[in-house]
Amino acid sequence: MNPVNVGLLGLGTVGGGTALVLSRNADEISRRAGSAIHVTHAAGLGIDPANLPAGTENAKITADAWEVVNDPDVAIVVELIGGYSPARELVLKAIENGKHVVTANKALIAKHGNEIFAAAQAKGVMVAFEAAVAGGIPIIKAVREGLAANRIEWIAGIINGTGNFILTEMRDKGRDFADVLAEAQALGYAEADPTFDVEGIDAAHKLTILASIAFGIELQFDACFTEGISKITREDVNYAEELGYRIKHLGVTRRTGNGIELRVHPTLIPHRRLIANVDGVMNAVLVKGDAVGPTLYYGAGAGAEPTASAVVADIIDVARTLTTDPNNRVPHLAFQPDAMSQDLSILPMEEVTTAYYLRMSAADKPGVLADITRILGDAQISIEAFIQKESPVDVPDVPLVILTHKVREAQMNDAIAKIEALSTINGSITRLRVEHLDA
Ligand code: HSE
Repeated sequence: MNPVNVGLLGLGTVGGGTALVLSRNADEISRRAGSAIHVTHAAGLGIDPANLPAGTENAKITADAWEVVNDPDVAIVVELIGGYSPARELVLKAIENGKHVVTANKALIAKHGNEIFAAAQAKGVMVAFEAAVAGGIPIIKAVREGLAANRIEWIAGIINGTGNFILTEMRDKGRDFADVLAEAQALGYAEADPTFDVEGIDAAHKLTILASIAFGIELQFDACFTEGISKITREDVNYAEELGYRIKHLGVTRRTGNGIELRVHPTLIPHRRLIANVDGVMNAVLVKGDAVGPTLYYGAGAGAEPTASAVVADIIDVARTLTTDPNNRVPHLAFQPDAMSQDLSILPMEEVTTAYYLRMSAADKPGVLADITRILGDAQISIEAFIQKESPVDVPDVPLVILTHKVREAQMNDAIAKIEALSTINGSITRLRVEHLDA
């Protein structure tokens, strides 16, 4: 078969990794794909012609990405620029030009995927995005194809490597937040704007994609509840440990009788769960299907070659299907485009039911605990565990930590407001959600 020509948009960490893996494993890749795969055109900024990235030596190099999407010899455009724009415009142009697209861009798919897939469907081309979620873990393929027999019940994942790296280093080594973040940036894990990592936006992009392929709903990034990890303190990490939990920045999507939960927030998980022991830059995704039960997928969620592993797998998939009838391909979002669910809405966070960890600073005097437990009791909130520490010398207040049973978020919001209004409570209450993730 004729070789398949690939055009790369972006020669940064992932672009360089993709060119390298394609050239290093060229022989095995062509045996798998049924044809050789060549990078023939690549766009990158500031590339030194005398020092081309490995695997691009025989490619035309340009600083103008439009040259690649308009190159008639390119069959597959691989978008590794990231961000919303100009990635959206470039991908839509590539589709208009009849090219297949592979992208690692979760922001693009989460925000503009509905438009992009409709354009691709109309044109009969593929848009593959395995690398957009959890880096090297083939989670898109697992949910979309491997678990296709199942009614997916819920997914919970550690899907931002930078955030997990920060929480792990803070817990294990007592390092400062800013110091660990700087290291993650130097290692190429962090987003161009690292607030996307620490405030949960990157994880929300990925969770939006997972929810769509799990439940057959349109991509609804704007409906995702997102809370970051920047307010987590060493105290919270230590209290969680004392109670038998680990704090992880989790993306959770769950099918309920009232709608779909779609939420990213720091979460206490029982320390005995496998996923609670996923450390450093590693990602893990727990998927519960009705037939298979719980399944866990683990691997590197960021970095040049792990991400390239997913990008190249997509390129191979596309190369294999170049000659197949577009109507017989795996649908982009797992469900046939005309069979997407229209009646499953995303639940507002106030309607989500979960358990809670509350930490507050209270005056050390009689009746304080009784006031707190009365407010919780009146709101039908049951206490599961409780810690009160001695107050440090010369400090009048004591730290109180309460673990509750499950309750609707709206009820918890009311109770927190009432507790914070007590004259014996100093400052605001730290509230973290708790997930047991049992089958
Ligand atoms: N910034 C992302 C992370 C890169 O840390 O997981 C992979 O999407």
